[in-house]
Amino acid sequence: MSTAAAPENTEFVDFWNEVLVPKFVKYKHVLVDGLSHHSEKILPSLNIRQGDKVVDVGCGFGDTAILFAQRVGPSGSVLAIDCCDSFLQFGREDAKAAGVDEIIEFVEADVQGYPFPGDRDFCFSRFGTQFFENPVAGLRSMRASLRPGGEMVMIVWRTIGDNPWLGLPKQIVLQFLPEPGEDARTCGPGPFSMANQEMVTKQLEISGYTNIEFERIDAPLVVGRTPDDAVGFQLALGPAGEVYREAGEEAQGKHDEIEQALKAELSKYETEEGIVMQSSSWKISARNPE
Ligand SMILES: C[S@@+](CC[C@H](N)C(=O)[O-])C[C@H]1O[C@@H](n2cnc3c(N)ncnc32)[C@H](O)[C@@H]1O
Repeated sequence: MSTAAAPENTEFVDFWNEVLVPKFVKYKHVLVDGLSHHSEKILPSLNIRQGDKVVDVGCGFGDTAILFAQRVGPSGSVLAIDCCDSFLQFGREDAKAAGVDEIIEFVEADVQGYPFPGDRDFCFSRFGTQFFENPVAGLRSMRASLRPGGEMVMIVWRTIGDNPWLGLPKQIVLQFLPEPGEDARTCGPGPFSMANQEMVTKQLEISGYTNIEFERIDAPLVVGRTPDDAVGFQLALGPAGEVYREAGEEAQGKHDEIEQALKAELSKYETEEGIVMQSSSWKISARNPE
């Protein structure tokens, strides 16, 4: 079952649906499979048990929600929520193929202010909370989804300097194009908006959480099957993609030289697995008070 999107979508939710969805779909193999080493470092350690009620916030294509459904089994349930129904369609089909569609409910909605049931044992978000227009409103909603004592875990990127898979391509594109202006259309505060430990701790405290803990997770990512695939991914998404998109005709005019420079750099990271680059994120856990 899916709930219709609120008619008054925020500018960021519109941006996800209008601009990012087709690019995410094209590079689903990078965004889902490319995270496999990262997932191995985080997902097995989550306190999710058989029978648990889980919520996956900003679930995207639904791969983590499906994994949680397999873990909680038929006596548990997973509520997978995202503001883009096009992503959820993949989740619904994959959940059916995995035989867990009865355990997961995919809901299209903006998490900020969503009326969660308040009965969840575990609330998870991988790279979803960084895009909230109002992080405290979103984090409060997530806490409201939890039973007293329930646990929230969110994964967010650390700084761009700690994430060469995004920082390096941006530096290269900036050799040819200007920084995006203040009025650039975006999908929200952005991938590094929760990198600052002190600020996020404050946001979580204001949102009513206790037992706040940060764990640094460094993991390699496969950012493309080949150098050309990695170049296409970088020009479509992330900080390099934003510079390229915002430069419009100027970017198109310089496309060949940008592509060549990016390919020369990204080829240095070619392995048998594909183009492999380093990433760094926070695993942040917190609790709804008893
Ligand atoms: C970078 S993607 C991460 C997707 C998935 N969790 C993963 O790890 O692959 C961020 C996701 O958050 C969703 N999102 C962003 N803002 C949201 C909001 N306010 N409410 C619900 N979903 C949101 C986007 O549609 C997108 O699917």
